[in-house]
Amino acid sequence: MEARVARRGVLMGGLAALVTGLVGAPITARAASTQTRTGLLGFKPVPVSYQDKVVVPEGYSFHLLGETGTPISGDMPAARPGANTGAEQEHQIGQHHDGMHFFPIGGSSSDGFIVVNHEYAEPRFLHAEKPNYKGQPFHTYRVAYDADGKRDDDEVRMEIAAHGVSIYRTTRQTDGTWAVVADPRNRRITAGTPVQISGPVRGAPHVRTRFSPDGAMTRGTLNNCAHGVTPWNTYLAAEENWAGYFANTDQIDQKPDLPREHARYGVSTNPQGGRYGWHLAKSGADEHVRFNASATGASAVDDYRNEPNTMGWMTEIDPFNPDAAPIKRTHLGRFAHEGVVFAPVIEGQPVVCYSGDDSRFEYIYKFVSEGVWAPGQTDGSILDRGTLYAAKFNDDGSGEWLALAPGRNGLTPANGFADLADILVNTRLAADHAGATKMDRPEWGAVDPSTGAVFFTLTNNVRRTQAQVDAANPRAVNHFGQIVRWSYAGGDHTAASFAWDLFVIAGDANASRIATGEALNDDNIFACPDGLWCDAESRLWIQTDMGDLGPGYEGPLKGFGMNALLAADPATGEIRRFMTGPWGQECTGVVKTPDGKTMFVNFQHPGAHASAQQFAAGDYGSGFPDYSGRAPRSATVVITKDDGGVIGT
Ligand code: FEO
Ligand code: CA
Ligand code: CA
Repeated sequence: MEARVARRGVLMGGLAALVTGLVGAPITARAASTQTRTGLLGFKPVPVSYQDKVVVPEGYSFHLLGETGTPISGDMPAARPGANTGAEQEHQIGQHHDGMHFFPIGGSSSDGFIVVNHEYAEPRFLHAEKPNYKGQPFHTYRVAYDADGKRDDDEVRMEIAAHGVSIYRTTRQTDGTWAVVADPRNRRITAGTPVQISGPVRGAPHVRTRFSPDGAMTRGTLNNCAHGVTPWNTYLAAEENWAGYFANTDQIDQKPDLPREHARYGVSTNPQGGRYGWHLAKSGADEHVRFNASATGASAVDDYRNEPNTMGWMTEIDPFNPDAAPIKRTHLGRFAHEGVVFAPVIEGQPVVCYSGDDSRFEYIYKFVSEGVWAPGQTDGSILDRGTLYAAKFNDDGSGEWLALAPGRNGLTPANGFADLADILVNTRLAADHAGATKMDRPEWGAVDPSTGAVFFTLTNNVRRTQAQVDAANPRAVNHFGQIVRWSYAGGDHTAASFAWDLFVIAGDANASRIATGEALNDDNIFACPDGLWCDAESRLWIQTDMGDLGPGYEGPLKGFGMNALLAADPATGEIRRFMTGPWGQECTGVVKTPDGKTMFVNFQHPGAHASAQQFAAGDYGSGFPDYSGRAPRSATVVITKDDGGVIGT
């Protein structure tokens, strides 16, 4: 009762009391209202933008790299926006760039591999010049079906190939620009590439299919949003909104009859599936019918009722070994993985990483390995044994990690959790049962290398009611989002308890607070934080995803302009807007070269706000990246400082 009264006091005091109570002191001692530290953020903030272009600060320049369709392998088929074939797309950079890392070759800051996720396909732009699409009214996700309800085989092949991950070598040229270069290690991993299943779910009944009766393999990685970089220098691609790619039309008494491992994740009961209807390709090929998750065969190894259970994982990719199959690391849990971020490793100590489940009222997770870090010896198999936890954020600023393991927190056979594999396939249900805190859509995480503090973006949650607010998710009908931060006594990331606060509450001047207690202003107003990355000098880079905003947008996010990249100083709380992007995009994926002097940033889905009528009339919503009148494309933007300095100074 006392706690509830205290909580009510916080809530009834409104945002001002929240700021005092929660954006405040438990983690780093901060002097009040000090935005005066110099050096870390040295650039002049750019204004809110409503322009269909990229804007960077004075003294900075940018150029483009790796647009959708750029050839990287095979016979290097040229980009033909809106007209490429599926076979060509299999050797070209995919669509809708998201999480990304730069893997230097030999520590170089002018030569390395970009590994970039392609979150989803926008069929109308992939096929804009093809007969099924040109001049037809198509919204952002809609696809063309023939009169018989089937889909064109090559359009499906292309959409599958536009998903996944691109790995390509890039080097700085003599004129200072970066270019894609041919390399035998360049490759595409798509929604159809054979992938191994590893960890406790490998071989479990939940993942046995016609393709892999022993449950050791599947095909593809889907809806790869953010990513992670392991301490052993491999890449992890997250599988976020994968449920929409499948259809399960099983019924009992004329009502949907889905197993809990489909229902809790939103697998579609629509015969066309939630998104693209790939299982309805004319071919009837196994690689397409596998997206039909209905029980059509005599048993699970005669059909693809278990195919959705092979998605929702973190998939490990070795960018330096083109022959290595990607590996799904199932002990990191199954949910709408946004990304993963690792705590700094310590020799002889477990490896620790954090991952968010980006859906309304879902959870933040931590994995602690059983094995310990040994420099030069550790590989991805260390992620196959350990303990997965879900976070509970108490209203008093403390928090605890709830183990999702057999016999812990009520996860027993009597309560419906047969074993570890069953818990992991049903991670969300396990976290429900354990009593974790339902968050406002956890997106990316970042770890400050200088303090070890962990930051997570909570992008928004318009469905939270006043009765559902808590201290970590303090607003009902939350349009704007917040960033939560936690740390541990003694800096021990393996600890079961932590202390947390809100680093920033985003929104307009009336609804926002930064760590100093001040409201956001013209230099930094933002909403819907999504991408997050802390660079080597502890600048916290924040990317926004307010949705598909175009220039005529009306609604609660009016006034925030186009999606942007901002930088924060974790020590002072200061935030400045660094870059704004074109119409319709979200800004997502950010990394620098080791010297800090080149930054790579993605703009995803330019033009996505364009209406079906606009599309039919040949108005694609945005001219980005080449302003040629062709279909818009996602692209990486390369940013340098004109004086050759570190980005952000
Ligand atoms: Fe793919 Fe949660 O953004
Ligand atoms: Ca995201
Ligand atoms: Ca997002």
